[in-house]
Amino acid sequence: MRLRLPGLPVVALAAAALLGPASNAALAQPFPNRTVSVIVPFAAGGPTDTVSRLVSEAMAQNLGQSVVVENVGGAGGTLGSQRVAQARPDGYTLLLHHIGMATTPTLYRRLGYDPTGFETIGLVTAVPMTIIAKPNFPAENLQGAIEVIRREREGINYANAGIGAASHLCGLLFMAAINAPMTTVPFRGTGPAMTELLSGRVDLMCDQTTNTTEQINARAVKVFAVTVPQRLGSLPNVPTAAEAGLPGFEVTIWHGLYAPRGTPMEVRQRLSQALQVALRDEKVVRRFRELGTEPEPQARATPDAHRAFWMAEIAKWRPIIQAAGQYAD
Ligand code: MLT
Repeated sequence: MRLRLPGLPVVALAAAALLGPASNAALAQPFPNRTVSVIVPFAAGGPTDTVSRLVSEAMAQNLGQSVVVENVGGAGGTLGSQRVAQARPDGYTLLLHHIGMATTPTLYRRLGYDPTGFETIGLVTAVPMTIIAKPNFPAENLQGAIEVIRREREGINYANAGIGAASHLCGLLFMAAINAPMTTVPFRGTGPAMTELLSGRVDLMCDQTTNTTEQINARAVKVFAVTVPQRLGSLPNVPTAAEAGLPGFEVTIWHGLYAPRGTPMEVRQRLSQALQVALRDEKVVRRFRELGTEPEPQARATPDAHRAFWMAEIAKWRPIIQAAGQYAD
């Protein structure tokens, strides 16, 4: 008896016949038929983690399967990215990462994996940054902070999540803009870095509003600017960098969802469909807005739109990083 399953290509049927009944069942079941893992390449409690958990919970509802977030931090996001690059291309291991996917191919020259070796599923959100300081930092505004940094230079500790992280990129651009170095202190994510900033063990950080909005509104940290052209509704009293005396200093951190190279397009389309529904979920939209960001529009949460944007970003950041001449390895 020939087992015909509607919509499966003939080659799949032939493979199923050769591989036996167990694989028949696996091939016959629609994707996904078990838990999907989303690897976050930074520690729990940080902005990438926050975005990932909100989106994963909403995707799970649409997929009808659990979507579990797993934090694999370290080396500026490359350890977690490598885990996904080397995973089975079956749609069950995904990566939610940010602008680091565009800077890593230039920053890291000796990685154990291809930093462009991923399939795209869709863009997720673009998050503004905030320049913040420990509660007792000796300045009350951005110009005052810049004076302290220019005076103290390497005596100021700047926290980030490792080379390639958004906080690293923002710090690189900030130090270039004010023409003053600081000592950078890397963490496995800006979640743990925030703990050190709150305690005063590090001095400054440039971090995403998804991690800083609540601390700022609670006056638990000092805030000097947001890195976008217009003030944020979630932080109406925080000046833009331009208003604070640093015109043109703009950094926005986009996030995307990826799968290992070779993941079938029909699987990616199904995941993109779930992502698009998640980005319209009222809880996701409300929480994103509370934290200073908006979900990407449906048209950008698709594999092709995401890939076109990602490739353009790699090309944009390559000369900027090469001009700075600062590499991870
Ligand atoms: C970054 O700096 O890249 C992120 O804030 C890291 C994180 O999500 O912890």
